[in-house]
Amino acid sequence: MSRPPKPAARPDKVSLWTYVKLFRRDILSAQPARLYRAKMAAFKTPFFRSFMVNEPALIDLVLKERPMEFPKSGRISEGLRPLLGNSVFLTNGAEWERQRRIIDPAFEGGRLRDTFPAMVVAAEAAVARLSPGVVEVEEQTSHAAADVIFRTLFSIPIDHVLARQVFDEFRTYQRTQPILNLAAFIPLPSWVPRGFRRQTKRSAKIIRRLITELTAARMDQITAGTAPDDLATKIMTTADPQTGERFDTQEMVDQVAIFFLAGHETSASALAWALYLIATHPDIQARVAEEVAALPDHPQLSDMSTLRLTRDVFREALRLYPPVPMMVRQAAQDETLRDRDVPKGSQIVLSPWHLHRNDRYWERPDDFDPDRFTREDGKTAQRCAYIPFSAGPRVCTGAGFAMMEGPLILALILRAFRVEPVEGQVPVPVAHLTVRAENGIYLRLSRRETDG
Ligand code: HEM
Repeated sequence: MSRPPKPAARPDKVSLWTYVKLFRRDILSAQPARLYRAKMAAFKTPFFRSFMVNEPALIDLVLKERPMEFPKSGRISEGLRPLLGNSVFLTNGAEWERQRRIIDPAFEGGRLRDTFPAMVVAAEAAVARLSPGVVEVEEQTSHAAADVIFRTLFSIPIDHVLARQVFDEFRTYQRTQPILNLAAFIPLPSWVPRGFRRQTKRSAKIIRRLITELTAARMDQITAGTAPDDLATKIMTTADPQTGERFDTQEMVDQVAIFFLAGHETSASALAWALYLIATHPDIQARVAEEVAALPDHPQLSDMSTLRLTRDVFREALRLYPPVPMMVRQAAQDETLRDRDVPKGSQIVLSPWHLHRNDRYWERPDDFDPDRFTREDGKTAQRCAYIPFSAGPRVCTGAGFAMMEGPLILALILRAFRVEPVEGQVPVPVAHLTVRAENGIYLRLSRRETDG
């Protein structure tokens, strides 16, 4: 059984210049190994302070007990604004609350039921695109997750001309986008312009124009009474229970941009790592194969409860390779955390990456062990030290959606194909917009024998 890949940590002490250089490469290998055990760590810079908090009590304080006093960091939002505008991912306070009141109902369990058939069609299409041989699976899972988003939001497949253009332009955007969390650590005062690359801005503009076309067309269909009953229609016709207001086209464009960005990159990354972990653990693969062989040809929502191991594999992939490796908040006032002074304006970094691999909470944290979630130790750790979707009122709106889509796609792929690692191709995790493999994830696929 092989140990899942983990990036080498940097030496404990490096010069600021080396740190910045490491950071530009990747946020994970820029950190020292001691962070895996630390409860809290401080990064002093000449212009502001950053603190990483890495223990359940502090994380609960920031995310659940007093979230309004730890709003989203402006340093991070700034980098995403050209693409995301005023989307729910970036707003704070009353504006954010209003947006969640309109968005949340569309993602509730009962309503997700309506979304499931579109997920199945997308998962089946993903399997149909695969063929035996060596395959770079991140590309395939990106395609699949993007297809799920378009089908569930706008009732269109990824082959639709506008969907395809959005997808392609997002790839350009990601290639040019500087590392997401960079600004929270880079020791520059906030008034120094970070200088978005021209290409990044151009890409953001193109994506927003395409999404505006989709959203405006949907608004017309809603007015004409001909709109399909999908997530976009639900969100655009839901009135804020407090004010009766709905999203206008422009506001909806902001939200669609984040659904697309947050919803497809993340799931794609987790799925690709899950496939790699399965490929490198043949015993688990054999058990998953048995579980998924019992699914009916076209699964229904009720069949998902039979996929216990498949779901735990997906959960374990989210633990080892949390697609959002770090989140950043800002102290709205002076605070004292673990007896340390945390001045107003400090950046508070929460790191699922480090928390999920902290051996104070997890047994053998670097091992792939999906069965841990069925044991007491794993259940306890899951309750206090597992935040792939964040926690508290700002928890990912798509968590239920992702926990349905991920195991479903995994199940249908593994029902059709056996996956094996490719000699000499060990993926190295790096954190850019999400945790990805530095040079992709290559696996060898072969068709499973079907009985009769
Ligand atoms: C495996 C898949 C996913 C993972 C690991 C994930 C993870 C996260 C995390 C960690 C956050 C909090 C970020 C922060 O506070 O800085 C977040 C927020 C968010 N996610 Fe997800 N996400 C996933 C899938 C999705 C999907 C499928 C959607 C929608 C279709 C979605 C929509 C959102 C939105 C709208 C927010 C912002 C919520 C707010 O700030 O109030 N995510 N996600």
